[in-house]
Amino acid sequence: MAAGLIRLHFHDCFVHGCDASILLDQTPTIRTEKTAGGNNMSITGFEAIDAAKARVEKICPGVVSCADIVAVAARDASAYVGGPTWNVKLGRRDSTSAYPDVAVTDLPSHNDDVETLIKRFKGKGLNVREMVALSGAHTLGDAQCSSFRDRIYSDGANIDGAYAGVLRRRCPLVGGDNVTAPFDPVTPDHFDNKRGLLASDQVLYSGGGVTDGIVREYGKLAGRFRDDFAAAMVKMGEIQPLTGSAGQIRRICGAVN
Ligand code: HEM
Repeated sequence: MAAGLIRLHFHDCFVHGCDASILLDQTPTIRTEKTAGGNNMSITGFEAIDAAKARVEKICPGVVSCADIVAVAARDASAYVGGPTWNVKLGRRDSTSAYPDVAVTDLPSHNDDVETLIKRFKGKGLNVREMVALSGAHTLGDAQCSSFRDRIYSDGANIDGAYAGVLRRRCPLVGGDNVTAPFDPVTPDHFDNKRGLLASDQVLYSGGGVTDGIVREYGKLAGRFRDDFAAAMVKMGEIQPLTGSAGQIRRICGAVN
């Protein structure tokens, strides 16, 4: 649950800004982002956001946006699993549409090389260091077999042999696409600075690359990783917000008013 909420904020902010567009359900006029690209059958946390929104609306109707609730939930999720906490700036408003095509083009893929990852984050105003810090969120939660199969069967030189063996027993070469494995097999539900599972995590530490030094630094200095993660989450939460009279405050998060 905590992992899903942190990822939900990321996938909201990277697609047309932090505007809760990811929460909109499919209707005749809205094409949902929920089934687009990396979100399909993978993104979670909607029920928790809906429940929080319902409680907030009861006390204070029409004031707190769904986008702000997603941002606060990500912060609380991090703190709940032992990760850092931070002050969430509020005042985002909600979109009146969803952007599934942007989800396909703008969300990073587990197959991206380091240059592509850097470019994607730069496109959202986040620098290399912030990208590496944010990728540290992969200390939490799970990935499906389809997200790491290539790596455990064909990236022999770049993955610990015993670790790959365990993963292969879990994730067959054919089938089992939705079987999951934890990102961090030792402490899957705890926020820390340990090893990665996806190819896109490994390319951040691959011998001589621009991000290697940062990964090494975070591996040694857990406190610095936590501080940088928190600061980068604040910055990520500022991507293209709707403010003023733009957008709306949705009454329920899954539909426009
Ligand atoms: C650097 C580029 C990134 C790539 C390529 C990437 C890719 C992925 C993939 C493929 C999964 C597994 C999905 C599945 O198999 O169902 C995943 C899970 C996850 N990602 Fe990322 N991600 C990136 C950055 C981030 C960032 C910036 C955050 C948050 C700040 C984040 C948070 C998470 C979390 C928490 C999970 C686990 C979700 C769960 O267990 O429900 N990721 N990511």
